[in-house]
Amino acid sequence: MIPTIEWSGKYIRMIDQRKIPRKLEWYTCRNYVQVINAIEKMVIRGAPAIGVAAAMGLALGAESIKAHSYDDFKRNFKKIADKMIKARPTAVNLGWAVERMSQLVDKAPNTPLDILKKKLRAEADNILREDIEINRQMGQYGQGLIPGKATVLTHCNAGALATAGYGTALGVIRAAREKGKNVRVIADETRPWLQGLRLTAFELMQDHIPVSVIADNAAGSLMRQKVIDLVITGADRIAANGDVANKIGTYQVAVLARENRIPFYVAAPLSTIDPQKKTGDMIPIEERDPEEIFRFENKQIGPKGIKAINPAFDITPNKYISAIITEKGILRPPFKKKIRELFHSR
Ligand code: MRU
Repeated sequence: MIPTIEWSGKYIRMIDQRKIPRKLEWYTCRNYVQVINAIEKMVIRGAPAIGVAAAMGLALGAESIKAHSYDDFKRNFKKIADKMIKARPTAVNLGWAVERMSQLVDKAPNTPLDILKKKLRAEADNILREDIEINRQMGQYGQGLIPGKATVLTHCNAGALATAGYGTALGVIRAAREKGKNVRVIADETRPWLQGLRLTAFELMQDHIPVSVIADNAAGSLMRQKVIDLVITGADRIAANGDVANKIGTYQVAVLARENRIPFYVAAPLSTIDPQKKTGDMIPIEERDPEEIFRFENKQIGPKGIKAINPAFDITPNKYISAIITEKGILRPPFKKKIRELFHSR
């Protein structure tokens, strides 16, 4: 699998996910503003991947700061960090990565600036490397939830492309396959960006994992016909009570799963949990350009002058979630208590 994002000399390059599967094209960012732009415009997307991009973007931004004192450097770094954090509001991994990079700056008042810049780049590399390891750990825990033969429904793309590699929800599926389980995937196409059709289908086919795509509105009917054994999705942010923000449409899949007595699992690293948000209602939901709904590949597909509402994420209340798969193990309800214990023991 091609890396989602990597250094290309002193610049950053990422696979342009807007073009997959038609083209596999690198998108090069020569400065931090281009990284912010790439996150906003969905060149790179998926909660853990935008966290990694933000960290690398900050390292790139730090290298361009021409400061003569630590205080001056820190002031400039904070300005870049404040802009980076606003690139997309829902996935907390972005803020988490910015915070981790900022803490490194805060703790290094006596470090020469050229060394500090190198340390920032090394920290961004750590975040990238750790993400892949975490996904593999999640895969190991999560695959235990999948029977020897299973059809798994997933929504959006929570795969290698949404992370530094391997994936969260798709990582669990990959791990089950590596254990020799007979797993096939049904991917919701995931309007309006079609992450399921374009990205999930693409990466699973590359790995020779059987996958079929469905229109989003077919999920309920297939569940009722007992075609689907379980659902696994990723998450963009998880509140302290276990409510989950994920790609728009996740909520209805979870409700349908409950109605049909199908387990609904969420796979996400601890960096996706935001203990500051008591419930899902406190999580900011990104509202994207309405054009994404009624224009397709630069063609207007709705009547001229049509209005659209385009929330990019929704909240699935914790009562619909059977378990949350993390790199530290599987959390079962009641999530509030489990999440509190997990964060207190860290
Ligand atoms: O708008 P996107 O494509 O960034 O949304 C991505 C999702 O909702 C994913 O399910 C989520 O980030 C988890 S990815 C491991």
